[in-house]
Amino acid sequence: MGHSSLTPKNFEKLLLFIENHSDKTDGLMPILHEAQDIFGYIPLEVQKFISDKTGVSVARIHGVVTFYSQFSTEPKGEHVVGVCLGTACYVKGAQAILQKLKEELGIEPDQTTSDGKYSLVATRCIGACGLAPVITIDDDVYGKVDPTQVSSILNKYN
Ligand code: FES
Repeated sequence: MGHSSLTPKNFEKLLLFIENHSDKTDGLMPILHEAQDIFGYIPLEVQKFISDKTGVSVARIHGVVTFYSQFSTEPKGEHVVGVCLGTACYVKGAQAILQKLKEELGIEPDQTTSDGKYSLVATRCIGACGLAPVITIDDDVYGKVDPTQVSSILNKYN
């Protein structure tokens, strides 16, 4: 992972998308979604590229990227660990699980471990309230999680 997604091929892919959307007045959001999909994150280098091709200022692009949580300026880790902080999960002790995850991974939400292995994100309700408290790792969902189970769950991804 790391910065390996910033390849000429991916920039070409994004350029193609921008060219196909240049007639739309509200083109920035779809372009940013596409960039997030292609690169996995939207670093300054990509923001500048989009600015060059669209004429939208880097400041405006940067503002949008940092405002919406679905965009990220940092590369995501190999595994994305989500902890649901929705009401049901919160009531069932999600904070203790988040605390445990922070200790185990040594990072705060929205950060990635230095080896690039894990990113930690706090999420809203993922619609599995019956299983509260819930954590997700990539596409896997773990329900009724107890803080003591956190390290063994993470170990499956090592
Ligand atoms: S509140 Fe966590 S799944 Fe609904």
